[in-house]
Amino acid sequence: MNDIVYLNGEFMPLENAHIPVLDRGFIFGDGVYEVIPVYSRRPFRLQEHLVRFRRSHDAIRLQYPLSDMDWTRLVHDLVGRNPGDDQSIYLQVTRGVAKRDHAFPASVKPTVFGMSSPLSTPSRQAIENGVPAVSAVDYRWQKCDVKSTSLLANCLLRQFAADAGAAEVVMFRDGYLTEGSSSNVFAVRKGTLYAPPKNNLVLPGITYDVVLELAQANKLPHEVTPVLETDVRGADEIWVTSSTKEVLAVTTLDGKPVGAGKPGPVFRRMHQLYQDFKRTIMRQAA
Ligand code: PDD
Repeated sequence: MNDIVYLNGEFMPLENAHIPVLDRGFIFGDGVYEVIPVYSRRPFRLQEHLVRFRRSHDAIRLQYPLSDMDWTRLVHDLVGRNPGDDQSIYLQVTRGVAKRDHAFPASVKPTVFGMSSPLSTPSRQAIENGVPAVSAVDYRWQKCDVKSTSLLANCLLRQFAADAGAAEVVMFRDGYLTEGSSSNVFAVRKGTLYAPPKNNLVLPGITYDVVLELAQANKLPHEVTPVLETDVRGADEIWVTSSTKEVLAVTTLDGKPVGAGKPGPVFRRMHQLYQDFKRTIMRQAA
């Protein structure tokens, strides 16, 4: 963790940042968050992250406490005040501090928090060999499109994967692919890339959008459609995507090899496209 964080209007060293125990983020997990990757000190897809952030606020009827311009300034300030060219900016807003009662308090100021961590993207080894995943029933709630800090189910599911020595969980609901505990999931069959549609059962990933845009721009066959569990289990390739994992191949599912058991040709192409895209965007922003 880096040193300088933002809390309710002020920048301060992490060890000086405290919130009251009655904060509804602590008591109820009543809040929303964003994770924004920063490359060469430039936030990647910041506007898109802010659009989703605002949507998460609206979905839980939480006041959007800052303007997009203020968020943008705050993100750049955090980047500037913390070391390292590549960072991961975390923003969180909770419904604020109030006597414990499930119903919303009247007129309470939201708690606004921001911090930076070094961006840790997958190792070369993980990119070259892929990572293991395990499957699980998606038992989360019906509002998985909200980037809520209530992440107990996601934590339990990720720990289930960790206990199995796996990097991520691939989840299915009613026979269809949803996503991972903290990533979106794609499958490739016979050269076509398949992505589950955005609905209330998956988080609308910013990386997911970039991957589909790159597939479109580079004429890679792709389809956004409900993906059957059986098709994932028989897929030639499975990928996970997120702001921190970028695009990563899953090479075993429940201990069985996915396709040839190594990152496939469509993954290698997309991984290269993604890295090139990042570099181009960052050069343009310079
Ligand atoms: N997680 N699905 C879930 C459940 C996620 O938590 C995330 C991201 C994604 C991918 O979204 P994006 O491409 O916008 O990062 C999909 C972040 C990184 C986290 O919780 O740390």
